[in-house]
Parts: sequence; C-alpha cells; structure tokens
Amino acid sequence: MILVTGGAGFIGANFALGAVRNGETVVNLDKLGYAGHLESLAALDGNPRHVFVKGDIGDRELVRKLLAQHRPRAIVHFAAESHVDRSIHGPGEFVQTNVVGTFALLEESRNFFQNHKDFRFLQVSTDEVFGSLGETDAAFTETSPYAPNSPYSASKAAADHLVRAYHHTYGLPTLISNCSNNYGPFQLPEKLIPLLIHNALAGEALPVYGDGKNVRDWLYVEDHCNALGALLERGAAGETYNIGGNSEKTNLEVVEAVCGLLDELHPRASGRYRDLVTHVKDRPGHDRRYAMDASKMRRRLGWQPAESFATGLRKTVRWYLDNAEWVRQATSGGYQDWVEKNYSVRS
Ligand code: NAD
Ligand code: DAU
Repeated sequence: MILVTGGAGFIGANFALGAVRNGETVVNLDKLGYAGHLESLAALDGNPRHVFVKGDIGDRELVRKLLAQHRPRAIVHFAAESHVDRSIHGPGEFVQTNVVGTFALLEESRNFFQNHKDFRFLQVSTDEVFGSLGETDAAFTETSPYAPNSPYSASKAAADHLVRAYHHTYGLPTLISNCSNNYGPFQLPEKLIPLLIHNALAGEALPVYGDGKNVRDWLYVEDHCNALGALLERGAAGETYNIGGNSEKTNLEVVEAVCGLLDELHPRASGRYRDLVTHVKDRPGHDRRYAMDASKMRRRLGWQPAESFATGLRKTVRWYLDNAEWVRQATSGGYQDWVEKNYSVRS
C-alpha cells in the first residue's frame, strides 16, 4: 500500500495507473484543483486497489488519519503547483502547496515513522531547481548546486531542502528525484507539447516564447514513472537521483516534430501545421537550457528510458488524437481564462 499525493494530475495519474496495474494498492490524495482530473483515473473505477480521497496535503488531520488508517509503506509525493507561467502570475499558491504543504506531509510522516520503521518518503522534484545551463555546459548531476530562478522552481527547491533536513535531522528515510520535462497522456494543454497539439487541431496559433531556442530534456511520462518505481524499491535513503531522457531539444525542434507528426496522422484541409507557428513575447526569467546526467540511475538502479523522443512523441500525439473527450473535459472550466491571461500579455 502506498499513499500517492497529486494522483489526479498528469504524472501522478500515470503513476497510480501503472502501480495498480503492477498489483499495488494506492491511496490517492488530491485536492482536484484546476490541474486534477478524475477522468484520467477512469480505468480504476470500481477497482478495490485504488482509493481516491479528495483533500489538501496541507490538511494535517486528514493526512494523519490516512496514515493511521492505511499504514502505507511509502508516500510518493507529486502534489504541487507545477506550471512555471502560473507561478509568475501568482506565486503565493506555489509557496502554500509546494513548501507549506510538503512541510505538513513531512511532519505527519515524521510522527508516523516513529512506529513504522520501514516507511519511505519519495519527493518528486524537478531539474529546474538547478537553474539554467549555458549552451556548452555539462549536464546537471546530483551534486550541482541549487540555483532556482522562478517562483515555481524556488518553491520546489525549498521543499527539497526540507525533505533533506528531515532525513538528516530526524532520520526519516527520504528519497528525492529531480526529473526533466515529461510529456505523454493526461497532460493538461497548458504545458508546451499538449498545448501545441491542442492548438494545432483547433487551427489556432502555436505560441513560441522568444526565439524558441531554449532547450529542454524530454522524457516520456511512463519512463519517469518506472524510474520512480525503481527508486521506491531500491533507492538509498537520504540520497537524490537525477532522471532525464537524454533527449535535449530546442523548443523549435519540438514544435517541428509535433507539426510533422500531425501532418502525417491528421493532415490539415489546406496548408501545414507549421504555418500556425507564432513567436510571442518571452517568459520573464526564462531559463535557457536544462540537461540531466541520469547516469546514477543507470549505474545504481539499472534504469534507462525505454522511449526515444520520436517513439514517445508519436504515442503522445496518437493519444491526444484518440482522446478528444478527455481534452474537452480538461479544457472546460477555467482553462480559457488562463489562456487569455497568459497569452494576452505576450502579444
Ligand atoms: P500537475 O499540475 O499535472 O498535477 C499536480 C496535481 O497536484 C494536481 O492533480 C493538483 O490537483 C494536485 N494538487 C495541487 N495542490 C494540491 C494540494 N495542496 N493538495 C492536494 N493536491 C494538490 O503536475 P505534474 O506535471 O503531474 O507534476 C507532478 C509533480 O512532478 C510535481 O511535484 C512537479 O513539480 C514534478 N515534476 C513535473 C515534471 C513535468 O514535466 N511535468 C517534471 C519533473 C518534476
Ligand atoms: O523541467 C521540468 C519542468 O518542466 C517541471 O518541473 C514543470 O512542472 C513543468 O511544467 C516543465 O516546466 P517548463 O517551463 O520547462 O515547461 P513548459 O511546458 O511550460 O515549457 C516548456 C518550454 O516551452 C519552455 O522553454 C517554455 C516554452 N513554451 C511554453 C509554452 C506553454 C513556449 O514556447 N510556448 C508556450 O506556450
């Protein structure tokens, strides 16, 4: 039994689906904010090995009750405010959930650990805590210094520091993973790849921030989830692990790849999808390049990605073409307000 936080969001839902498929029982705590979509977990409806609880990780009484009731062997902590652009418009919620919320989970974990010594706490973090690389710099390793540049990455860095301190001070068996950009099924079209697919299919502009030469290291979400599974079973308590796809691309290369796949799988009535590309005003403080050295994961845990960017992106584009109803539901509600807020400042 494991307690997953944020399991109706993108990576958490993929993780919960995979874990239950592998025979695990999952208690899934998510407040179902704008990024949480229970439809992503429809395949688990009625499955006794999945218990969904709507609630906030900052609600210590609820977390205490769930730990006492289910006695999980681990917490896998995904719940977070996760979108850099939103953190620029409103950093407060990022501090609240990512820092204060993680603190609440750690406090309850510390108490629970007193009588459950085989317990582990896995903090799912990001490569963005390391800041930005120059074009020819070596990739980030586990010993790269933290240098976060956005309110999002600063809040994740703060949480990582708390997790580290709870191991060092209280002996809580913690693990921290720092992963690069994920893509795949069930990702809300506010992040680059699903946004491109969604806008292209609607015949709308494909907004590229700045010159489009910022570089990200892309990893298919299932590969990230498999890495986290390996870490949970065989990772060393108190250590951190970098996870990445060894797949650096400029944003323009990503746009080109998405457009090419859509031209092949779902051609436009006239013209090509790349005709929709529009350069817009850059993101303030936009990190230029991230790259992860994931050799520790390979050496120590035998993990490496199964998908290349080409195979993972093809699966992803197909998934979005086949799951228009999920996209429709995920982009109802406040989605349009967000699009207006974020993209009106860029025109
Ligand atoms: P997401 O935004 O899709 O999902 C986050 C989930 O957390 C949502 O379901 C939301 O409702 C829930 N949540 C937010 N605040 C909560 C709270 N206070 N209490 C309970 N639930 C709450 O995010 P994601 O892309 O799936 O990312 C998951 C985790 O992985 C995050 O911690 C993120 O920092 C990390 N991460 C993401 C990526 C990426 O590329 N997406 C890469 C590396 C690490
Ligand atoms: O690196 C890991 C991080 O990846 C995670 O920790 C974050 O949770 C996740 O959101 C993601 O952050 P990014 O800022 O890299 O992802 P995003 O999809 O927002 O942007 C990817 C790149 O594309 C970035 O350089 C900004 C650019 N971009 C993004 C959007 C939404 C555009 O050019 N146009 C856009 O409309």
